[in-house]
Amino acid sequence: MEPKFYSIAIDGPAGAGKSTLAKALAARLGFLYVDTGAIYRTVGLFVARSGGDCGDKAQVLIRLPEIRIAMTYGEDGLQHMLLNGEDVTKAIRENAVSGYASLVSAYPEVRAFLLDMQRALARTHNVIMDGRDIGTVVLPGADVKVFLTASPEERAKRRCRELEQRGQPVDYRQLLEEITQRDYADSHRAAAPLKQAEDAVLLDTSALDFDASLEALLAIVKERVPL
Ligand code: DC
Repeated sequence: MEPKFYSIAIDGPAGAGKSTLAKALAARLGFLYVDTGAIYRTVGLFVARSGGDCGDKAQVLIRLPEIRIAMTYGEDGLQHMLLNGEDVTKAIRENAVSGYASLVSAYPEVRAFLLDMQRALARTHNVIMDGRDIGTVVLPGADVKVFLTASPEERAKRRCRELEQRGQPVDYRQLLEEITQRDYADSHRAAAPLKQAEDAVLLDTSALDFDASLEALLAIVKERVPL
């Protein structure tokens, strides 16, 4: 008999706390944490670095064959992104790369290019995967689906703090504007738009701190996965 691997899909808009919570949950459960936004960021980074315009579909698609992406997991258990052999884990976190990722992720060909890589991980590991379309497209049969959200203002505040801690301070108003625009683009694109799967549980963390959010998430998982 094939071994059973469990998959937990966490989708939601930028800054809802998906990655921090999913990482903590993965550590708690001993599951592999897969941050799929990092893959789109890596594609965006490559296109921008090679002088391409991420908003121009032809310029993005022509570069896809030159892109080799690999994910590795360090001793710390954290996901590292390799772009043609170079570790770009840090570089993809720069604020400009968020915009590139949002643009390239709108092209169906880019999404198709990255689909197998994501599914392959779930075939061979217990995973917690976070993104925008995990419960709807990548892993429609996931054992647990959570749609994690928070108000745009709360998300902008959290992102502001996060960037500040990384030594990249940004203006709150500008960030709120960027988040609102990105939400709109991510949920209105034709290809795999951000939307809650019908069978996903909605978790709004606007009024919850980290510990309370993690407990709420854990309760949802425990109802569906024998731990
Ligand atoms: O989660 P993030 O901010 O790192 O994601 C970067 C961009 O990638 C975001 O604008 C939406 C896109 N994305 C996507 O389209 N599908 C995913 N599964 C993950 C991210």
